[in-house]
Amino acid sequence: MRDDAPNITSLTSPTKIDPAVYGNSDLFESEMREIFDRAWLLVGHESQIPDPGDFVLERAGRHPIILWRDPNGFIRGFLNRCPHRGARLCNRPHGRAKAFTCPYHGWVFDGTGALKSVPAPNEYGPEFDFADWGLTEVAALESYRGFLFVRHTSEGPDLGSFLGAMSSSFDDLVDRAPDGDIEICPVPLRHRYNGNWKLCLENLNDAHHARVAHNCAVKAAGRVMRKLGDRTPHPSLQIMMANGMPVKQFGQLRMSTSDYGHSFIHGFIDGQDATSRFPAEYVDAMKTGHGETETERILSVDRHLTLIYPGATLQGRFQVMRLIQPLGPNLTEIVGFLFRLKGAPQAMFEQSLHYFHISMSPFSPVATDDFDLYDGTQKLNGSALAGTLPVMRGLNGAPESAGDGHHQATSEAFIRNQYATWQKYMNKDAGTV
Ligand code: FES
Ligand SMILES: [Fe+2]
Repeated sequence: MRDDAPNITSLTSPTKIDPAVYGNSDLFESEMREIFDRAWLLVGHESQIPDPGDFVLERAGRHPIILWRDPNGFIRGFLNRCPHRGARLCNRPHGRAKAFTCPYHGWVFDGTGALKSVPAPNEYGPEFDFADWGLTEVAALESYRGFLFVRHTSEGPDLGSFLGAMSSSFDDLVDRAPDGDIEICPVPLRHRYNGNWKLCLENLNDAHHARVAHNCAVKAAGRVMRKLGDRTPHPSLQIMMANGMPVKQFGQLRMSTSDYGHSFIHGFIDGQDATSRFPAEYVDAMKTGHGETETERILSVDRHLTLIYPGATLQGRFQVMRLIQPLGPNLTEIVGFLFRLKGAPQAMFEQSLHYFHISMSPFSPVATDDFDLYDGTQKLNGSALAGTLPVMRGLNGAPESAGDGHHQATSEAFIRNQYATWQKYMNKDAGTV
C-alpha cells in the first residue's frame, strides 16, 4: 500500500474515491483517532452482564475494554489496562469478579475501578496516592433499549441524536419479543478478513452485488428448495434465494441514509400479510404480549439490514448484530451476536440461529464470497497503478444530501453518505463532534 501521507480532502469527492483510503498506515492511525475515538461505538448488550460483578471484554475502536456491572448494578466501561505498567488487566473473555488483580505485579481494583491494594505499598514512596491510580473509565457509556454504546470523548452529540431515525431499528429488534425484552447468546462468532474496515461497510448495504457475488450460494439454496418440494422453505433459505433477484427487482426496494453515516435497506420479502410469515405460536404470543394491532405493526416492519457507522450492523428480523472492528489497515475482525426473543417459542430462536450461521459464521456460504472479494480488492487497491474508484451509481446527476435520503436499494448513496461522514470526522467538522 502507498504509505505517503495523503491530503484527506482530496481523497474523496461526491462521486469518486482514491484507493489510498484503504491501506495507508498513517491514514489508518488518523481514522482511529478521528473517527473511532470520537464516534459512539456499539459494544454489546446489557444482558451480557445481568448481575453485579459480571463483566465481559470487548473492543471499542482500538481499545480493549472491560464492561463491568458494578456493585450498585450500574454498567461501567474501563480500559482493560493496568495503570501501573500498562499490562492487560483481564484475560478472561467474560465472567464475574468482585475485583480485578493485575497479573503482572498484583495491583487490585474494585468494581468502581478504584485501586484498593498494592503489594508492599510503602515501597512506592510518600507521594503515592491510591486515588491517582484507578482504572481509566471510558468517557461516555449509554444504553439504548439495552444496547451498550461507548465513546472515548465526552464531546459530541448525545446518543439519541447520533442514532436519529436509526434508533427505530433497535426498537424493531426488541419489539419482536413477546415479553418486550431480549437476551444475548453469550458466545459470539469472531472471524477476520484481510482487508480494510471500510470494505465491509461498503458491502453490507450493497444490494447490487448480491445477485452476482453470491451466485453460487443462490444456486445451492435453489437445489435445497427443489428438494423441499411443497414444504415451506426455511426463512433464511428464502433470504439466500432473494440474493438472486434480478437487479431491477432489487431496485424496487428502498434504502434510507441518515446523518452520521448510517443507512438501512428494506427487506426482501414484502407485500404479504405480515403475521403469516411467522409461526402461529409466535404470533399468538406476540398478540398476548402486545395486542393485535401492535403485533401487526411490529411484524410489518421489514428492514433487512441497518448499518450504524462506523462499526455495527443490526438485523431485527433475525435478531442478529455485527460489530466491525478495525485491527489494522489490512485486517478487520467481525464479531457476530445472536439474541433470543424473550417469550418467543423455540422455533423462532432456531430460525434466527440458522440465519446467524448462514450469514455470519466463518463457514457461511455468503460471507466467504464477500471475504474473498475484500481480500482481492484490498490487494489490488494497494497497487501503484490503482486508479480512482467511482461511487456514482444511483446518483443520476441529481444533487444529493448526505443524510435523510431515500433511495433505491441498488444506489451507492449509502457509500457516498459514509464518505461524506468520513470527511467530516477526519476534518474535525464541528457538526460531527
Ligand atoms: S502492570 Fe499491573 S500491577 Fe504492574
Ligand atoms: Fe455480500
